[in-house]
Amino acid sequence: MTAKLHMQGVTKVFPGVKALDDVSISVKSGEVLGLVGVNGAGKSTLMNVLGGIYRPDGGHIEIDGRRVDFARPIDADAAGIAFIHQELLYFPSLTVAENMFISHLPTGKLPFSVDKRAARARAQASLDQLGSGIRPTARMESLSVGEMQVVEIARAVAMGADIVIFDEPSSSLSIKEKEALFNIVRKLKAEGKAVIYISHFLDEIQELCDRYVVLRNGQLVGSGDIAEVTHDQIVEMIVGQVVTERAARTRRKGGAPMLSLEGIRREGILDGASLELREGEVLGLWGLMGSGRTELIRSVLGLDPMDGGRITLAIDGDSREVSHDELLERTAYVTESRRTDGLFLDEAIWKNISSTTLADYARGRMRVLDKAAEAGTARSMIDRLKIMTPDHHTQAAILSGGNQQKVVFAKWLNRKPDILILDEPTRGVDVSSKGEIGELVGALAEAGTSVLLVTSEIEEMVALADRVLVLRDGMIAAEMLGEDITETALMAAALRTEAAHA
Ligand SMILES: Nc1ncnc2c1ncn2[C@@H]1O[C@H](COP(=O)(O)OP(=O)(O)OP(=O)(O)O)[C@@H](O)[C@H]1O
Ligand SMILES: [Mg+2]
Repeated sequence: MTAKLHMQGVTKVFPGVKALDDVSISVKSGEVLGLVGVNGAGKSTLMNVLGGIYRPDGGHIEIDGRRVDFARPIDADAAGIAFIHQELLYFPSLTVAENMFISHLPTGKLPFSVDKRAARARAQASLDQLGSGIRPTARMESLSVGEMQVVEIARAVAMGADIVIFDEPSSSLSIKEKEALFNIVRKLKAEGKAVIYISHFLDEIQELCDRYVVLRNGQLVGSGDIAEVTHDQIVEMIVGQVVTERAARTRRKGGAPMLSLEGIRREGILDGASLELREGEVLGLWGLMGSGRTELIRSVLGLDPMDGGRITLAIDGDSREVSHDELLERTAYVTESRRTDGLFLDEAIWKNISSTTLADYARGRMRVLDKAAEAGTARSMIDRLKIMTPDHHTQAAILSGGNQQKVVFAKWLNRKPDILILDEPTRGVDVSSKGEIGELVGALAEAGTSVLLVTSEIEEMVALADRVLVLRDGMIAAEMLGEDITETALMAAALRTEAAHA
């Protein structure tokens, strides 16, 4: 059987980077191909070529054995290729249904009129198919990151594409949404679609995919049947070296209280959450999406309203009630949505990194910025976090997804904060960089920084947290310590939350 899709010898060069070097892949109908590789390996670029976003510098694409040439994304669309992007693209003030059919709105009886009811019905049908409770009439901006992702997937489902590309679709989904996504992928496969699935989660790749392709530095370095490789073998292909097991560590006890929150309330979301964050500990906040994890942090920092509660901070050995601003001054906040909160996309990497600490670089009475010092810091951060970029002048926008996330991390780290709040800090970051970021967080805690960690990734929570608080319905429902912090215990805690909702 000829492959549904074949990409032959694709090469793509950007200034300073050969993003793809003679890469060939094939996918059959009814097959799921897993595409893996470290941040910057070329995965998104390969899919952007397939999606008509980039013209390749060499090579070509065949669909059903016939050569095709995509000049624009709409050409790929017309050829039956649906692309669920790594970064969400949407119109915040339009409804879910309008976002889903923005380029294909069902037409009404009058010329140029839009049949809104038909659009809503079609949107509802594919959202139902995904097992999602999102309403087609909801405004896009009212949805969580996870829900927006589901809308993107629903759009591809509704378009009825033959070839579906998922670029890291699961990184911001809840456990329940993830299950629904996996079922959809299986359904697409059963319906004979050719699916390409990019993920840094190898357990997902092993569960969902029939075959895999590994990219490293823009080159194809391995491929084959998923059933014939082990997890460790794939990791070795991805990083290009033998993996060594990391030693088990003891959990830190933490020192004096640094920050205490008492009875934090926000109408309909937070119902009197209280916690104490100690000096030199990594405190994990665990719970389902919607349990109030991010909401708690945002309210306390004054980014969202807070309807009641007290924030107490230890300042120079004294402890007193503080305002949101006083807290913000001592806090670095690394967020999950790097596109909106974390990065100045049009700016160079070095400017992004020093943006949180400009005062440190102001010299003399004229407060002139010491650009050489700014650049120096940026270069050392690029080194420390292994950010993959030609140099520190590169615009943040052209970095790969995971490398953008590392820049966000660098920019806050540079501030040497008392309190470091991490909300999904390694979303989209590859396996080896996750380890590096984890070690950095550990080192910061060792040095006395108080770290508050929100993550949906169970392994990350187990690996990093010294203590875990379980949030349920906007309240702290349980605490886990030391040896009790295991994947099974965390899973059980999350599921209990889910059961309570049912
Ligand atoms: N428009 C662009 N201009 C210049 N360089 C680019 C552009 N897009 C991507 N690159 C570079 O090409 C390389 C491959 O990037 P790509 O986005 O394909 O990586 P990826 O494998 O998807 O990584 P991640 O897992 O972090 O998403 C990176 O070095 C990236 O900086
Ligand atoms: Mg990518």
